[in-house]
Amino acid sequence: MSDDKQLLILLLACAGLATPAWAQDGSIEQGRQLAAQGAGAAVAACAGCHGARGEGGAAFPRLAGTGQAYLQAQLEAFASGARKNPLMQPIAQGLTPAQRKSVTLYYSQLPPPLQAVDAARPTPADAGAWLATRGRWADQVPACAQCHGPGGNGVGAHFPPLAGLPAAYIAAQLQAWKDGTRPPGPLGLMQAVASKLGPADVGAVSSYYAGLGAAAAGTAPPGEKGKATP
Ligand code: HEC
Ligand code: HEC
Repeated sequence: MSDDKQLLILLLACAGLATPAWAQDGSIEQGRQLAAQGAGAAVAACAGCHGARGEGGAAFPRLAGTGQAYLQAQLEAFASGARKNPLMQPIAQGLTPAQRKSVTLYYSQLPPPLQAVDAARPTPADAGAWLATRGRWADQVPACAQCHGPGGNGVGAHFPPLAGLPAAYIAAQLQAWKDGTRPPGPLGLMQAVASKLGPADVGAVSSYYAGLGAAAAGTAPPGEKGKATP
């Protein structure tokens, strides 16, 4: 019964995250140029690491089809140093606020590199799939799919996709929330989730979502195949 109540509170919290007005501003054309060419010496072309279509790769998260508000918040956090990464901090700092808006608008409107499907009937032995689709209510851990959508494809502007992210990247983000080297994000939802995951949970759920992406790569548009393979 208290589980239901907890879930209701979470879902209400998720519904309350509206898309801000500035998501409508910014220039997609400017974003396309930044993605392909960068800006001066300080900002390398995003495509060089995140892929020609923002599909991501070995060590680099996908950007295509991810919510604009989420992507811009990440660039702001890299720029301020609240989110730490030696490659992305100087790049984000080298962009003006208007350029951060444009480039994230551009990526949010690209088609997602893949559409993943959750394991149909996970058993408790599939620790990663179970956590992703059922959660663990005894420890008040909701299913990841509750916020990240079925198949980890992402939901709306604030809940990023997980399918196809590199396993090491997912694990590093969960650790960053535990260490406080990544800002808590909307309502501190992810910090709360990460704080309840042990090392075995992190390993299992990270490889589950990375694997979902690899499995779905077979259904990706031509040219995207194999890109998500770590
Ligand atoms: C030299 C390689 C490199 C280049 C060039 C690069 N990135 Fe990144 N980017 C990374 C890495 C590595 C990460 C993961 C950082 C982490 O682990 O937190 C990342 C993460 C991100 C994230 C966070 C994604 C998420 O899911 O939270 C965004 C947004 C992003 N980059 C946008 C850009 C944009 C926009 C550009 C071009 C202006 C760009 N990147 C250029 C390497 C690069
Ligand atoms: C109650 C909602 C909620 C639940 C449940 C949830 N998440 Fe999240 N998650 C979020 C939000 C919101 C963000 C964006 C945080 C930010 O803006 O920095 C996020 C971001 C992430 C990211 C960062 C993705 C990226 O591109 O950098 C990872 C990794 C992640 N979640 C993993 C998980 C895992 C694994 C689970 C299940 C164990 C889970 N989440 C459950 C709300 C949730």
